[in-house]
Amino acid sequence: MSLNNNKFYDIRKNGKQEGDVFTSPKIACYILDLIGYTPDKNLSKCNILEPSCGDGVFVIEIIHRILVSSRFYGFDPYSVVERNIVCYDIDSEKIKCCHERIDQTFPGCAYPQFHTADFLMDEIQEKFDFIVGNPPYIRYEKIPANVRSVYKKMFATFYYRADLYVLFFEKTLKLLKPGGTHGFICANRWLKNEYGKNLRGYIAYNYRLRYIADLERSNAFQEKVLAYPAITVISNEVPSATYHYMEVTDIEQLEWKKWTIRNMSTTNDWSEMFCEISNFGSLLTIEEQNFHIGIGVATGADSIYISTTLKGVIEESRLLPAINARNLTGDKLSWNGEYLLNPFDENGNLVDLACYPKTQQYLESKKEILSNRHIAKKIPTNWYRTIDKIRTDLQKAPKILLPDISGNSLLFIDEGRFYPLHNIYYITGEDIHQLKILCSILMSDFVRKQIQRISNNMNGGYARWQSQNLRKLRIPDIKGLSHEQAAILEEGYEKKDIKLINDCISYLTQNTISARESQATRKPQQLSLIFS
Ligand SMILES: C[S@@+](CC[C@H](N)C(=O)[O-])C[C@H]1O[C@@H](n2cnc3c(N)ncnc32)[C@H](O)[C@@H]1O
Repeated sequence: MSLNNNKFYDIRKNGKQEGDVFTSPKIACYILDLIGYTPDKNLSKCNILEPSCGDGVFVIEIIHRILVSSRFYGFDPYSVVERNIVCYDIDSEKIKCCHERIDQTFPGCAYPQFHTADFLMDEIQEKFDFIVGNPPYIRYEKIPANVRSVYKKMFATFYYRADLYVLFFEKTLKLLKPGGTHGFICANRWLKNEYGKNLRGYIAYNYRLRYIADLERSNAFQEKVLAYPAITVISNEVPSATYHYMEVTDIEQLEWKKWTIRNMSTTNDWSEMFCEISNFGSLLTIEEQNFHIGIGVATGADSIYISTTLKGVIEESRLLPAINARNLTGDKLSWNGEYLLNPFDENGNLVDLACYPKTQQYLESKKEILSNRHIAKKIPTNWYRTIDKIRTDLQKAPKILLPDISGNSLLFIDEGRFYPLHNIYYITGEDIHQLKILCSILMSDFVRKQIQRISNNMNGGYARWQSQNLRKLRIPDIKGLSHEQAAILEEGYEKKDIKLINDCISYLTQNTISARESQATRKPQQLSLIFS
């Protein structure tokens, strides 16, 4: 069966052929650099394949690089263009367009070997040092049923409702020479979804994944598209334990942002590979470092127990200054004079109201409401208790205050003045110095990113400092810090200097990761080459 005609796919609403989303020249250059197809090399010695060349954005840059390389190495560039570049496109119009672009950009230049054919169907014997491109995104249901059934027999990665680009991955990877390198930009869906499962397994078992740049929310194409792209670079080498990962929101960031080193999966489940926290095994959780995470008090009747008007009305010894999330907005801690009525004594027992006549009178006047609470019905004699016990030692303890949802970039430590209410999480620790260091770490971008990932970005970018999220964070070992590092982080907290904190934390975390990376060259496994 041949699919060799350009009426094969539907026309999109914008008049373009289905699957045609052209790469920007900047991205084409970036990918060629990343795979190592650079003009400082003798490019006459390597061949390169573009399996779906479109109007030739990669082809033009490849020819340009061959011309530059030929000046260094003194070879005939035109014969190299003709011999060493192989291009496919199903659409003869696109190939014509490539010819025209070559004529305009490099007058008199030879043409690469262009094939107007369905790349997936064509039998190709040649193997390649480099393969680049932006394969067509054709959704499963847009591939004609008769063609789908042929592809199903040919490609083991054609699993579930896979998009056409998945098959381009499989076929091109098989065309790599040993040591050859492959760089694609295409939709990032296959990295996580069901239909990408077989492709992920195939790569994890047989190839070395080198780079993933996730371009979620950036615009890497020459038009706006709905699918988010990712750049992947894979080489035909033994799999490695780590790979380089980067997430960018703007393609300009590709130029300066640093790669992070992440663990490579050994299976078809790559979900952990993008999650920073799972990659920092040598970092510790907050609780592993002997801090305690808690939530402020729930009373069951806030309007009765918490108020700015209680002072003077009831005995002062029964009042605690209370703090809630509203007191921590706008990157400031400003107490609004609210007090919490505390019906418990120092030992955690309910006080005898007869000893506090003003308190007794006040609570008796609210007895009906208070007795109606679930907690009061359980033991009716305890009708005036709050849902949670109130511990005066918590008020006196230094603690980091974390409003449940916060748009603040700064966090605060209460040195022992306030009692936290139920929309505040708090962390207590062994001493104030360690709390200040922890507070700095929590303000760093390193932790913010983790929190946003863990809480799934559901709050318009606001951090959710809930205890279940706090417990999952991985942070540097505070007791393992040098004297200087500890002093810098304390200073970062005092001066609220986020840049100072970020510099220090990125130094600490980079060191942790590179120490691990040096131990992490995975040995070749007994690979079950299910896709030979
Ligand atoms: C996403 S565009 C990319 C074009 C170009 N590589 C770029 O980066 O700008 C995909 C191209 O694949 C071509 N194409 C679609 N199905 C194909 C197939 N089965 N074999 C070869 N080319 C195909 C389309 O004609 C289109 O030019």
